[in-house]
Amino acid sequence: MNTIGIGLLGAGTVGGTLIHRLVTEHAAIAAKTGLDLQVRRVAVRDPAKPRSFEIPEGMFTTDPMSMIEDPDVDLVVEVMGGQEPAGDLVLRALETGKPVVTANKELIAARGDELIAAAEKSGVALLFEAAVGGGIPIIRPLSETLAGERITRVMGIVNGTTNYILTRMAEEGTAYADALGQAQDLGYAEPDPTADVEGADAAAKAAILASLAFGTWVGLDHVPHSGISQVTATDIRYARDLGYTIKLLGIAEDTPQGVSARVHPVLLPHDHPLSSIRGATNAIFIEGPAIDTLLFAGPGAGGDPTATAVLGDVIDAAREILAGAQVAPRIRFAPSSLADFGAIPTKWYVRLEVEDRPGVLAQIAAAFGEASVSIKSVWQEGTDDEATLLIVTHRAPEADQENALRTVGNLDCVNAVAAAIRVESEEA
Ligand code: NAP
Ligand code: HSE
Repeated sequence: MNTIGIGLLGAGTVGGTLIHRLVTEHAAIAAKTGLDLQVRRVAVRDPAKPRSFEIPEGMFTTDPMSMIEDPDVDLVVEVMGGQEPAGDLVLRALETGKPVVTANKELIAARGDELIAAAEKSGVALLFEAAVGGGIPIIRPLSETLAGERITRVMGIVNGTTNYILTRMAEEGTAYADALGQAQDLGYAEPDPTADVEGADAAAKAAILASLAFGTWVGLDHVPHSGISQVTATDIRYARDLGYTIKLLGIAEDTPQGVSARVHPVLLPHDHPLSSIRGATNAIFIEGPAIDTLLFAGPGAGGDPTATAVLGDVIDAAREILAGAQVAPRIRFAPSSLADFGAIPTKWYVRLEVEDRPGVLAQIAAAFGEASVSIKSVWQEGTDDEATLLIVTHRAPEADQENALRTVGNLDCVNAVAAAIRVESEEA
């Protein structure tokens, strides 16, 4: 039997489930793969904490560095989360010549290029299938299966918490705060849910997807992001009436202006495949000239699906250890120009609260025109005193759209720019 000793950094939602699976599925995994995967050491903050799994006495440690250096540990699984101390521990493991499997999107998005280089230098694997999309296989398809495809665009619902909130708001009229509370109770949200609702979690995942899809490192600084905390039930309703569903998307594109990645809420046409993704489900939609479109969908969060992805990486890395060869990185990054977001063409849905008197529509149309933004459609409902105006623009550079919004917001006849959300649809 080919025995591999595993050391875990963390034994919470994902790590605890992984340990449970390594024990209960041990025989099945051995039968399928020929591997005898043994948990040897587990680093946690508080060994006295009640756990959902059992491990022999003495296996816990509060000294993660000693765990990494333990000669009985052949492979390190990092499921503690956060950038530090996880980053330095992963780096140390790689420098020591031990392969690392991690589920930590925050760490990979922040230091992935440095860690992948360290893994290459030591000739060991650094695998992170669980970092994006939880249980959905997407890292391996992007970096290996699709390595020969000239991918043009990747769009993903990559945060389960926000998709859950938007689904509950749209389908059941649940208030935003209540839906967020439910997502937290179900274990989808990050310890600080600000990272979910304000788009930072999705931005880290979008940075990773963009880097793998286009083979160029896209740092987090190059991923502008906004979240769903400003999305209201009113706009969800108006969007639905106009033929759109509101989703928080990570969008990575190879554009004439360069590689671009961004995260923000969008209005998507009802018939787009991502519009039908409900609840905490994640989905990644990939476009390329030869494959046309591919859709990967499934559970994007939760201990069980995420542990499945981690386990797959553990098996992959264990096989490489036993093969004894120098491991080449799954992907190499070449420098490429990154697009300035202001130059990327976008379209907008804008809800304005305006005075209901002659000439108002003309002033607003003129303001858009002066900013070189063309209006695609307008819908208005007036009450004699006030009117609600819904405007959908044609595509124009993001900087022009933002300029138009600023100008319109400053008009005396405009009481409020009540909402401004980008639209993703095929037409211009
Ligand atoms: P978690 O439940 O908070 O567990 C974190 C674990 O790490 C705990 O066991 C904790 O110890 C340990 N830990 C934290 N800081 C430590 C330190 N400084 N020294 C030693 N141990 C430390 O987190 P999780 O939900 O399992 O997430 C783990 C990773 O998976 C994160 O990177 C997360 O982004 C990623 N991920 C999670 C999900 C999900 O659905 N949960 C999905 C995809 C990816 P104690 O138990 O003693 O507190
Ligand atoms: N908080 C994340 C989400 C967990 O809601 O998708 C998975 O990364």
